[in-house]
Amino acid sequence: MTHDDPLNARVVLITGAGRRVGAATARRLHRQGWRVLLHCFHSQRTAHLLADELNAFRPDSARVLIANLSDARAVTALAVASIDAYGRLDALVNNASSFYPTPVGTTSQAQWDDLFASNARAPFFLSQALTPALQASARGSIVNVIDIHAEFPLAQHTVYCMAKAALGTMTKSLAKELAPRVRVNGVAPGAIAWPEGSGEMSAVLQEKILASVPLGRVGGFDSIADTIAFLIEGSDYISGQIIAVDGGRSVWG
Ligand SMILES: NC(=O)c1ccc[n+]([C@@H]2O[C@H](COP(=O)([O-])OP(=O)(O)OC[C@H]3O[C@@H](n4cnc5c(N)ncnc54)[C@H](OP(=O)(O)O)[C@@H]3O)[C@@H](O)[C@H]2O)c1
Repeated sequence: MTHDDPLNARVVLITGAGRRVGAATARRLHRQGWRVLLHCFHSQRTAHLLADELNAFRPDSARVLIANLSDARAVTALAVASIDAYGRLDALVNNASSFYPTPVGTTSQAQWDDLFASNARAPFFLSQALTPALQASARGSIVNVIDIHAEFPLAQHTVYCMAKAALGTMTKSLAKELAPRVRVNGVAPGAIAWPEGSGEMSAVLQEKILASVPLGRVGGFDSIADTIAFLIEGSDYISGQIIAVDGGRSVWG
């Protein structure tokens, strides 16, 4: 579906939109006529480049919002800025995430707080603050980007997996609580792209992971972006679902 009048085009906030999956999702929805709010924290340069690219295509159709999602006050300010930007909000994509190992015996409370903040706490408080705006939309929608490892845990990443599991539970719980005005769904990526900083050490692990993917390849950012776009506007009768986009990995052993 495209939007005929750019001044009334629907508005989506995408967290972690400066690069990778978030940026691909922004490009995807923008192509379909959406105005996009690109949240970022460190990736400000690439987020502004992306906004310039999208605004060159349709003036004032993309804006950059900066917030550290580990800072509760910044999350509140991000919600306020999101509504102020265009005076409406139709969809929220909770995509931002911190990801790193937390082997038992080495994990600090600061790491716990950081992993839960970006992967669970900020998505909840953003959803809460933005609910009135989403309810005011004709087709309000939230999509949470989870991980197949919320259900099939990854060793040495217990805290990350726990935080993503919380996001999965939030998806189903909010789907109940925000119905019928707002649909809430999730996408659970498998191996989409190797985390940045993957060095020689992880080559063996990468091979092992690929061996467990029936489709035999990593997905790509657009695989996730396409599924997010589908959940937002490809169907108006899906809520409370988490779609695994993982090349078959989670069902094929
Ligand atoms: N890549 C995969 O193969 C894979 C697999 C399973 C699940 N996923 C999930 O899919 C989503 C996107 O994956 P990705 O690989 O594109 O993610 P990513 O590049 O690892 O992270 C996305 C963004 O999250 C933002 N972020 C992290 N902590 C933040 C904080 N405290 N405050 C503000 N922003 C914060 C960062 O923004 P800045 O750079 O602006 O700081 C980062 O660019 C994530 O939810 C991830 O868990 C990905």
